[in-house]
Amino acid sequence: MSTPKHFLTLGNLTSEEFRGIINRAIELKKLQREGVSHSRYPGKVLAMIFAKASTRTRVSFEVGMRQLGGSALFLSAADTQLGRGEPIEDTARVLSSMVDLVMIRTHQHASVERFAQYSSVPVINGLTDDFHPCQLLADMQTWFEHRGDIRGRRVVWLGDGNNMCHSYINAARLLDFELVVACPPGYEPDGGLVAANRDRVRIADNPEDAVQGADLLVTDVWASMGQEDEQQARTAAMAPYQLNRNLLDQAATDALYMHCLPAHRDEEISSDLMAEPNTVIWDEAENRLHAQKALIEFLLG
Ligand code: CP
Ligand code: NVA
Repeated sequence: MSTPKHFLTLGNLTSEEFRGIINRAIELKKLQREGVSHSRYPGKVLAMIFAKASTRTRVSFEVGMRQLGGSALFLSAADTQLGRGEPIEDTARVLSSMVDLVMIRTHQHASVERFAQYSSVPVINGLTDDFHPCQLLADMQTWFEHRGDIRGRRVVWLGDGNNMCHSYINAARLLDFELVVACPPGYEPDGGLVAANRDRVRIADNPEDAVQGADLLVTDVWASMGQEDEQQARTAAMAPYQLNRNLLDQAATDALYMHCLPAHRDEEISSDLMAEPNTVIWDEAENRLHAQKALIEFLLG
């Protein structure tokens, strides 16, 4: 049996593969808009295991599989035997003997790695505490649609050095852009990941300095799923890093800004930027559908 391709981080892709998925996502979006059928995978089934909440990830994968001719199964981790302690490796062996693809959203990144190790079909990371690679496919598709290639551009991450930030670091390496992470002390992204990408990423603690002339500003919630108890301390530390009109005005004149959603208005992003009619944030959300269909094609071949 050959080893399946997995998508646990962007590190599973080469630069060419990442660009290929973005281009195909743009094509698939067009086909979908034109009503051209692209159901290449009749009968294929994706199992989706969720140990954390989701709107976009669940709906985009489920709808995406239907548009590709297959179907998706929603499995709440808590309602499966996983929630009662069945080992991940046993679950991986059994599920992958019945379905064609597995997507997992969970806490520890090591859990998706372990699942993949024992799975005979491709495994997709639908978000862990450490990475959210599917969101980067959609964010980069959105950038390419609006601005073309991102090579050599300056992207500023504002706020928490979290799972999304880590995936931006991986994207900076693969797509060759400069990433400035503006975050308060104590909330920096993983030191090892930053060190390994020192030529692409730098940490700044002053958001105003960081955003000067930037092409893309990105933020995310200050307390991720599982960190609800830290909300107050995080809000106090990250308040100066809010993505708002003042910071946006100091970026390049045609700068874009993104947020993976769900957004907390007037916390990490101001309400006026969320209400801006031309914001690409809604494209970014829709592109989860198109980008993940391109990913599924890439993984299934
Ligand atoms: N951005 C994102 O992953 O959204 P959901 O949590 O709704 O899936
Ligand atoms: N960083 C956020 C992203 C939600 C899509 C979280 O992990 O909750």
